Amino acid sequence: MHGLRLTLPALLLAAPLVAAAQAPAAGNAEAGRALISNCTGCHSIPGYQATFPQVYRVPKIGGQSAPYIVAALQAYKRGERNNPTMKAIAGGLTDQQMADLAAYYASRGAQAN
Ligand code: HEC
Repeated sequence: MHGLRLTLPALLLAAPLVAAAQAPAAGNAEAGRALISNCTGCHSIPGYQATFPQVYRVPKIGGQSAPYIVAALQAYKRGERNNPTMKAIAGGLTDQQMADLAAYYASRGAQAN
């Protein structure tokens, strides 16, 4: 009796934690829309070029698949992709924000910047 009382709540508490740790964050496009003001300054420039601090090509991210966008942002954050600008930006994003942004850009298709 004693053991059952302790074990059951512990299992109930542990289950969602395990699920949260294993499942990739599910993206919410609406939440992502609120975050794109941090991205449009570069990713919405016509011709996808930025000129500061040097001229560089900014890739179009609208319409890319959500898993690709998340993987790219994670790689910048970890330093596997070497771009100081995107490393700084991705470094400030949580996994959930990355998933939300990716859902937004993927769902907007090529119209999104
Ligand atoms: C200051 C300009 C700037 C801002 C702001 C910016 N980016 Fe970028 N982004 C770039 C540049 C430049 C690259 C290309 C870097 C490279 O060559 O790896 C890039 C690359 C990317 C890539 C990889 C695209 C690909 O085709 O592989 C993704 C995804 C991305 N950015 C997402 C975002 C998101 C999401 C935001 C907003 C949270 C954002 N960026 C804000 C300049 C910017």
